[in-house]
Amino acid sequence: MILRKKLIAGNWKMNKTPAEALAPAQEIAVAVGKQPDVDVVICPPFTALTTVAPVLDGTLVKLGAQNMHPEASGAFTGEISAPMLRAFFATHVILGHSERRSYFGETDAFINQKVLAAFKNQLRPILCVGETLAERESGSTLKVVQTQTEKGLEGVSKDQAPGLIVAYEPVWAIGTGKVATTEQAQEVHAFIRDLLTKLFGEAAAQKVRILYGGSMKPANAPELLAQKDIDGGLIGGASLESRSFTELVKTAAAAK
Ligand code: 13P
Repeated sequence: MILRKKLIAGNWKMNKTPAEALAPAQEIAVAVGKQPDVDVVICPPFTALTTVAPVLDGTLVKLGAQNMHPEASGAFTGEISAPMLRAFFATHVILGHSERRSYFGETDAFINQKVLAAFKNQLRPILCVGETLAERESGSTLKVVQTQTEKGLEGVSKDQAPGLIVAYEPVWAIGTGKVATTEQAQEVHAFIRDLLTKLFGEAAAQKVRILYGGSMKPANAPELLAQKDIDGGLIGGASLESRSFTELVKTAAAAK
């Protein structure tokens, strides 16, 4: 059996000015920056990347962005490219978050271009997938997740696949305090693992970390992280305070 190292990633969304980002980044670096048991990533807004990068330098905590454009440069007003993120020392990028899909009209095809661009630029994509409440209630959860996963990963090679991170985020659980039950989450995670096995083969699929996201916090994390195919968390609200975020990292370390 392959032991996948757990990964806890904080998605700060549109929160924190550079000045506000400094203290939590420093606290996270001090509290969990030297521990090797769990991979830790924090994803501040673009405007705080240059403030957070030097704080994480020399620690094991990695820097991620929350989005990017697939092109390297050009006339795309307001956008940020993979080479720009690399220049800020980012190593990870969240792609296809449900907020991008629903508020900014991002399609699977566009998200797929971003995934390919991330790999091309040595950024690790964190591809988000997940169903809405209406989709769950109509029984189409697995179909939705299958389409988002397969279309999002078109053209990704077997060699690239182990570097991929997938985040299963049921839209109805994001920021709502309604967490998926461990059974609901594990079912979808195992389904995603099967899809990855079909796409990339068993060896590569066993290496991919599949994170759960949606109202994860220290109180509900132990049960979720104990599931066979739940390899960590993509944390929104509970990542904004260093205390709850570092507690989640410690919980993941205990669950390994
Ligand atoms: P919450 O943890 O606030 O529910 O957000 C989850 C999320 O969307 C992370 O990307």
